[in-house]
Amino acid sequence: MRFPPRGARLSSLSIFRFPARGRRRNICRVIALLGLLAWWSPLLPAQTSAAAVTGAGASANANGVADPRLDSRVESLLRSMTLDEKIGQLVQYSAGQATGPGTGRTDYEDMIARGQIGALLNVIDTPLINEYQHIAVEKSRLHIPLLFGLDVIHGFRTEFPIPLGMASTWDPSLVEKASRVAASEASAIGIRWTFSPMVDIARDARWGRIMEGAGEDPYLGSAMAAAYVRGYQGLRLDAPDSLAACAKHFVGYGAAEGGRDYNSTEISEHTLREFYLPPFHAAVNAGTATLMSAFNSLNGVPASANPFTLTEILRKEWGFKGMVVSDWSSIGELVAHGIAIDQAAAARKALLAGVDMDMASSLYHDHLAELVRSGAVPEAKVDNSVRHVLRVKLAMGLFEHPYVDEGRARQAFFLPASLDLAKTIAERSFVLLKNAPAASSGPLLPISRNVKSVAIIGPLADNPSDPEGLNPGRPSPSGVLSFPAEMARRLGEGNVLRAKGTGVLGGGDDAIAAAVATATHADLAILALGESPAMSGEAASRTRLGLPGRQQELLEAIVNTGKPVVLILFSGRPLTLPWAFEHVPAVLAAWFPGSEAGPALARTLFGESNPGGKLVVSWPRSVGQEPLYYNALSTGRPPGKVDLTRPPFDVESKYVSRYIDEENTAQFPFGYGGSYTTFKYGPTAIGKDRLSAAELNHALGKENDSLTVDADVSNTGSRGGEEIVQLYVRLQGTSTAQPVRALKGFQRITLAPGETKKVTFNLTPDAFAIWNDRNEYAVEPAKVTIWISPDSASGSEAKLEILP
Ligand code: BGC
Repeated sequence: MRFPPRGARLSSLSIFRFPARGRRRNICRVIALLGLLAWWSPLLPAQTSAAAVTGAGASANANGVADPRLDSRVESLLRSMTLDEKIGQLVQYSAGQATGPGTGRTDYEDMIARGQIGALLNVIDTPLINEYQHIAVEKSRLHIPLLFGLDVIHGFRTEFPIPLGMASTWDPSLVEKASRVAASEASAIGIRWTFSPMVDIARDARWGRIMEGAGEDPYLGSAMAAAYVRGYQGLRLDAPDSLAACAKHFVGYGAAEGGRDYNSTEISEHTLREFYLPPFHAAVNAGTATLMSAFNSLNGVPASANPFTLTEILRKEWGFKGMVVSDWSSIGELVAHGIAIDQAAAARKALLAGVDMDMASSLYHDHLAELVRSGAVPEAKVDNSVRHVLRVKLAMGLFEHPYVDEGRARQAFFLPASLDLAKTIAERSFVLLKNAPAASSGPLLPISRNVKSVAIIGPLADNPSDPEGLNPGRPSPSGVLSFPAEMARRLGEGNVLRAKGTGVLGGGDDAIAAAVATATHADLAILALGESPAMSGEAASRTRLGLPGRQQELLEAIVNTGKPVVLILFSGRPLTLPWAFEHVPAVLAAWFPGSEAGPALARTLFGESNPGGKLVVSWPRSVGQEPLYYNALSTGRPPGKVDLTRPPFDVESKYVSRYIDEENTAQFPFGYGGSYTTFKYGPTAIGKDRLSAAELNHALGKENDSLTVDADVSNTGSRGGEEIVQLYVRLQGTSTAQPVRALKGFQRITLAPGETKKVTFNLTPDAFAIWNDRNEYAVEPAKVTIWISPDSASGSEAKLEILP
C-alpha cells in the first residue's frame, strides 16, 4: 500500500462536509484531518479511480480487507469469543424472500441476541434492518454487528441493463459507475453487501444465468469483474454508501452440463486456469471483500467443498483475505451430491475446504460445535473463518456505524444523474444485429422522416422488465415514459398504433389477426418480441432458444404483410432465430434495458443515439451448436469453408470437425455489432516482429509494454458513431493448444463522419502468457498472429515470433 494512499484525499473530502461559509476556515483543519486519516485508516485504497476507466491495473489491496492493521482488532475480538459465538459469525439466514429451499427457521431475533447469526440476507425493510441490528449490537454479548446482504445485480431502484447487456457496452467505466449508483441506492436502505458480480464464464445460451454475467471471454470478463468491484466498494469500503462485493460463483458454475442449472462440470485444471479463473482473480485483485462458492461439482468435487479451488488457489496462490460465503444451501447440498453421508459431514467438508459462511442451510449452526468438540474439525479452522468474517465487518466500518439513517433512502433513489446513466448504458448496450434496406431505400434504421406512423406490436413493448405485470408493487421512476409513450410523444398519439398480438407465452388467433390488421395501417411495424425476464436467470435453462409461445407465428404474419419490420429483441441470452435474420430487415438486440428502456429505445430507433454495443457471446444458429464460443481450440481436423448445399462426399470435407446439417460458425460472432455508420479498418501494424520469451517472462505481471500494435480505423459513413475496436492474439507452437483467437485488448472509440483514428494497443507480457503443460503461467516460444478487428471473425493479420 502506498503511504499516504492516493485515494485518501478524494474519499475523505466526500465524507467530511462543511457548511459553505466555513469552508475556507476549515481548509487547514481538513488537511490536518486528511493526514491523520491517511495514517490511521487501514481502509484507504491504494488505487485511485483512474484505473477504473481502463479496467486495468487492479490493486491487491483496494478494499482494506487485506490490510494487516486490521489484525489486532480481529485477534482481540476472537480471543473474547466462545465457540458458539464464533460459529454464530459463520451463520447466515434469509429473513426475507427465499431464493432456494428454506430451513423453516424464523426465530432470528432470539438467535441474534444469543450471537448465533453473523449475517442476514433479503431483508429490504429499513426499520427492520435497524431493528435486527439493534438486537445484535445492544443485546448480544460481544455487540458484533450483522452484515445485511442482497442480490443487487444490475441496480437497486434505478435499474440498469442486465449484466449481459452491460457487458455488451464493452465499457468497464460505465459498469463501474452503474455499480456505484447501485451501491448508493442499496446502502441507503441498510444493505451493505451485494451478491454480485457474477463473473462466471458462460459458453452455453441454454444456461439461463448467461444473462447475469459478462459472457464467454475471460479478458473482457476480468475487466468487467474488476469494474463491478470498484464500483460497489468505492474508494473506501467503510463509507456508508459502499457495498462489499461478492464475486460468484466460485468456480465453474457457468459450464453446467447441457446448460442445466446447478449441474455438474468437468473442467481440466488447464481450462480452469485459462478461462474460468481469470475473472475471479481479477475481482480478488480489485479487492473484492467476499466470494461465493458455487453449487456445481467440479471434476467430481462440489465447489462448496473443494479445497483445491477454495484454499490452494484462492488463499494460497492469490492471497485472498476476505470471506467466502456458500451459495444458498450449497453446504446442505453436499449430501445430495453424495460426498457427505450426512449433514454433519457436509458442514465439516465445507468448512475444512474453505467456506467461511453458511448461507441458508443452517448446518454450521446445527453441527459445527459438536464437530469441534469431537475433534472432527480443529477449532483453529473455525477461528480462521471467523477472522475472515470479522475482517470484512471491521473493514466496512460496521462496528463504528452499524445503523442506517432511515431518511437516507428518500434522497438516494432515481436521482436524475442515475437515470441519465441508466439511459446512456442502455443505449450503449444495444447490439444492432441487422440493418438491411426494407425495399429500394437505404437501411431501415434509423427511422426515416418519411415514416409518419408506426404499429408497435408484441408482448414486450410496454414494459420489457415486467411484461406480464408480475411485479406491480415494484417502484419505478416517475416521469420516465414507456417505449410506446415515448414514440407517441414524438410521432403524435394517433400515429402510434398498438397491438399486443400475443403474450410471451400463449395467445389466440384473433389477437394475431388484429395485430396484422394494425400493421397494415402503419408505415412501419415495430415488433417487441423475445423472452420474459423470468425465462432467463437462475433456474431458467431452456432447450429451445427460439421465440417462445406464438411469437414466431406473429412475426411471420407481420412480415408477410409486406410492411417494413423492425424487430426489437428482448432476452437474457442469444435466441436462435434464423428465419428472422433472413427475413426481417432490421433486428436490434436490446437485452433487458432497465429503467430507461423507453427513452433509450426511442432515441436509438430515431438515430439520436447510434447503436455501438457488441456481442459478448457467440450468437448460435441453432441450439445444437451449444456450447459455442469463439475462443475455442483448433481441432486436428478443422473444417474449411463448409458448403451446406452439398453433402460431404469427399474425404476432405467429410472427415472434419463439423455438423452435416449446420455451419460451425456463429450466426453472429463474438464481438459483432452493427452501426448506423460504417467503419473501415486499416492493416494491423506491429512495433516489432520478434520478442524474447525470456524477457517477457521476466516482466510477467508487470505493466511493462512489450509490444505496440495499431491500426487506423475510419468512419466511412455519414454519421458519428462509436466503434469497439478489438485486438486478438493466436499463439502456435506452444506446449498447450491455444485458442484460435483470444481477446487481449479493446477500446470503445468515437469517430465523427469521415474521421480516422490510429488505435494503439500497448500489450503487456501477459498478452502472450499461457498456462503450459506443467500448469505454469509462462510465455513460451511461439508464432504469433495478431488482429485488430471489429469482431472475432474478421480483420487483417500481423505476424511475429516469440523466440526463446
Ligand atoms: C443464487 C446466488 C444468490 C443467492 C442469494 C442463490 O440461489 O445462486 O447467486 O446470490 O441465491 O439470493
